[in-house]
Amino acid sequence: MKHLKYLNKFLWKYKSTLALGLLFIALTNIFAIYPAEFVRNALDSLIQKLNNKENDNISLVLLKYGGLIILFAVLKGIFLYMTRQTIIVMSRKIEFDLKNEVFDQYQKLSIGFYKINKTGDLMNRITEDITNVRMYLGPAIMYSINLSVLFSLVIYKMFAVSKILSIFVLFPLPLLAISVYFVSNKINKKSEKVQAQLSTVTAISQESFSGIRVIKSFTNEENTLKMFFNSCKEYTNRQIALIKIEAMFIPLIITLIGISTLLTIYIGGLEVFKGNITTGNIAEFIIYVNMLAWPVASVGWVTSLIQRASASQERINEFLKIIPEIKNTGNLKTNLNSDIIFKKASLVYSDTNIKALKNISFKIKNNKQIGIFGKTGSGKTSIVNLICRLYDVSSGDIKINNVNIKSIDLNHLRSSIGYVPQDGYLFSGTIRENIGFSSNNIDSQEVEIAAKKAEMIDEINSFPDKFETVIGERGIQLSGGQRQRLAIARVFYKKPKIYIFDDCLSAVDANKEQKILENLKKETNSKTTIIISHRISTLEKSDNIIVLDEGKIIEQGKHHELLSNDGFYSQIHVNQTNNK
Ligand SMILES: Nc1ncnc2c1ncn2[C@@H]1O[C@H](COP(=O)(O)OP(=O)(O)OP(=O)(O)O)[C@@H](O)[C@H]1O
Ligand SMILES: [Mg+2]
Repeated sequence: MKHLKYLNKFLWKYKSTLALGLLFIALTNIFAIYPAEFVRNALDSLIQKLNNKENDNISLVLLKYGGLIILFAVLKGIFLYMTRQTIIVMSRKIEFDLKNEVFDQYQKLSIGFYKINKTGDLMNRITEDITNVRMYLGPAIMYSINLSVLFSLVIYKMFAVSKILSIFVLFPLPLLAISVYFVSNKINKKSEKVQAQLSTVTAISQESFSGIRVIKSFTNEENTLKMFFNSCKEYTNRQIALIKIEAMFIPLIITLIGISTLLTIYIGGLEVFKGNITTGNIAEFIIYVNMLAWPVASVGWVTSLIQRASASQERINEFLKIIPEIKNTGNLKTNLNSDIIFKKASLVYSDTNIKALKNISFKIKNNKQIGIFGKTGSGKTSIVNLICRLYDVSSGDIKINNVNIKSIDLNHLRSSIGYVPQDGYLFSGTIRENIGFSSNNIDSQEVEIAAKKAEMIDEINSFPDKFETVIGERGIQLSGGQRQRLAIARVFYKKPKIYIFDDCLSAVDANKEQKILENLKKETNSKTTIIISHRISTLEKSDNIIVLDEGKIIEQGKHHELLSNDGFYSQIHVNQTNNK
């Protein structure tokens, strides 16, 4: 239960709804319990009148009690409705709050967190686990309160009629609770297994749909089908095992209630003969027993709900208590139109222990364009990761305007940077939404200007829906170069202070590339630009180029200086010009 304590703050937030719910539960039960007495009274007066051979007024008596029963049933129904409207609605509201809290935390966590945790797990926390928690907040709380109220009322009424009969009748009920608990526990375990297997089946289908090109070109359909077949078979087996247990649930409850009813009639009958109770009391007791049966059975069910919710909340708490590696502790809103200085900066990725950058020092001058060149895996993207503070340096430091990057307000820093990442991720949605990603209020004219600068406007205008063209799944399929240019347009729209292009022109043809670079130059005349590329032609106009190898700077200078250096850069230059 201790993990569920976390939810108390939400219960407190909705305390008035919860209190109202409590009141409605009490009223529901009061109106539920009286009809048993009406049945007893009706039966007893009927029997009395029959014995005395008084035939008058019988229908009036029956009409009176029948009317009362209907009236109470209606009132009970109304309050039951209100109970659900308060407690179940409250649980939905808390579910909403909790989902948002978890999602907000997700967005705060660093990139490293996303590498350790699988997407499926993250999704499960926010869907399945929160659903389990809601079952505790809604049904579990509601049934627990209901049971305690109903139990006190019924027991009070029963003992008032006959102690001995009450004891006999109540005897099988704990047995009912315990067996329902065991059966529900088994059901939960089995259904978790079913869920897990369902995830596997989904994952296999999803992967094979996404990777359909590779599957077809490798003619791997048969293997994929076999994999799907086996995991589907396992799913069915687990489902059948679950159904076997589930099938026991209702018969078990009915049997135990039946035993109670039988005892009521037998012991009650004896008591009637002794003259301790009336025939009507037997009917009254049968109604009580049946009223108690479901709530008592629900004890077992509720217990297993609470256990499940507790395990889920434990997993959620684990995520909520993680402190993001990249902390927004600084609050300086430094002018970012200034030099960026790396001083003996190193970066070790903690999960893999890879030393991506080793003691590098260099300066990115304000308003200048710097090129970063190097083999794959040499640490180019790692430099950008540090500037955007997606990671922090392991040693050394980075200063902008002579302020340590960690002292700068994180939102101020990131909102001043326009980063085109290497994989240029696009979101599903329209082209307009993707280009205007950085603002809530998209300016269509600015979107068009950005598309022009990214040399994408002609192609967008050739699509039937132009800027409203939907991309991604069930939308238009863009080519690699088109995707890259959209990601570039997204940054042009943002108009940042620092431009970072991470190898995002690789799929753009040379002609368009030069045009984009010219547009960039115009745009960034007074802005800092960092361009990463494998192609020397992309970088040659930069004010300074640094050449990386295995996390170290091996050469540095302008294009012609590097050529006369006769090092790695000029070797590659020779290769690339010969291949043209
Ligand atoms: N997020 C990460 N976690 C752990 N290791 C990483 C991570 N990103 C990169 N690395 C490792 O750090 C080293 C440098 O990677 P980086 O991405 O900076 O190279 P790169 O120069 O950008 O290469 P490419 O030209 O292929 O993009 C590589 O050995 C890589 O495996
Ligand atoms: Mg890279």
